[in-house]
Amino acid sequence: MSLIVFHTIADCKAWLSEERAQKEGKSDTGFVPTMGYLHEGHASLIQKARAENDIVVVSIFVNPLQFGPSEDLDRYPRSLKQDLALCETLGVDLVFAPSVYEMYGETPIMTRIHVDQLGEYLCGASRPGHFDGVCTVVAKLFQIFAPTKAYFGKKDAQQWRILRRMVADLSIDVSIIPCPIVRENDGLAKSSRNVYLTAEQRREAPALQQALQQVLRRFQEGERNVDKLRDVAMDRLNAVPGLRLDYLSFVDDETLTKVMTVDEHHTVLCAVAAYFGSTRLIDNQELVGL
Ligand code: PAJ
Repeated sequence: MSLIVFHTIADCKAWLSEERAQKEGKSDTGFVPTMGYLHEGHASLIQKARAENDIVVVSIFVNPLQFGPSEDLDRYPRSLKQDLALCETLGVDLVFAPSVYEMYGETPIMTRIHVDQLGEYLCGASRPGHFDGVCTVVAKLFQIFAPTKAYFGKKDAQQWRILRRMVADLSIDVSIIPCPIVRENDGLAKSSRNVYLTAEQRREAPALQQALQQVLRRFQEGERNVDKLRDVAMDRLNAVPGLRLDYLSFVDDETLTKVMTVDEHHTVLCAVAAYFGSTRLIDNQELVGL
């Protein structure tokens, strides 16, 4: 079957209900929400969705609700034609690529999802309202596609944890599937925003992952004190002249609250965000207890 591309919600709903009726019980639906400008990170999510489901849906929508007033909404990179070609190669059934008007109408949206606490830490502290915007659009997309499973990258460590909590809190019947981070050869996490980097910033950017790797190594050698683990990371980050740190945090895997020691029985998330010029990059490493 060749790729179907729809721009309206009504078309998606009509196609899906027909497809589900035809497939008679064999219609598990895997959903991969994206903002487009697809790379191998997105592709890995789509491949997993293809392997695990009867129907695969990808959405491509640069969601204005999750961008702050001084952020990069207007210059966010777009490449619909290439994205569709990639989706076709990966065996996607349906791509939904709506306009802002189709998603939100003419007047400002009145109803949003608000995320307490989990949405205020880490990236939420420097991007107020960001996760409200993410949850609002993802909940709306879940409503449209009623997927069985939805696939998210662990690169956005806070995002998939918040969405996991959102579907539990709102009793939305979908499994959130976190997927491994896909990286460039030098360790930099793949991101649509990497194109913003100058050649020099691009050379410096792998320091984020190198700092996290050093933390992981010390953790595996037995270090459990967060101040000491932080020093290890800061040594690496401070050596990069073009890097301005937003945060380096060690938080509980579920509550995202700060921890002082890495408890043997809990997973701790070590998360970092830093600016290279005006480009903000994130990365993270899970420290898994026994
Ligand atoms: P976007 O940044 O396009 O990412 C779409 C999905 O791809 C997210 O789940 C993200 O974590 C995943 N992803 C990005 N880079 C990755 C990498 N290097 N390895 C593995 N997965 C990666 O995240 C969003 O869009 C939006 O917030 C969205 C969920 C679509 C809501 O608008």
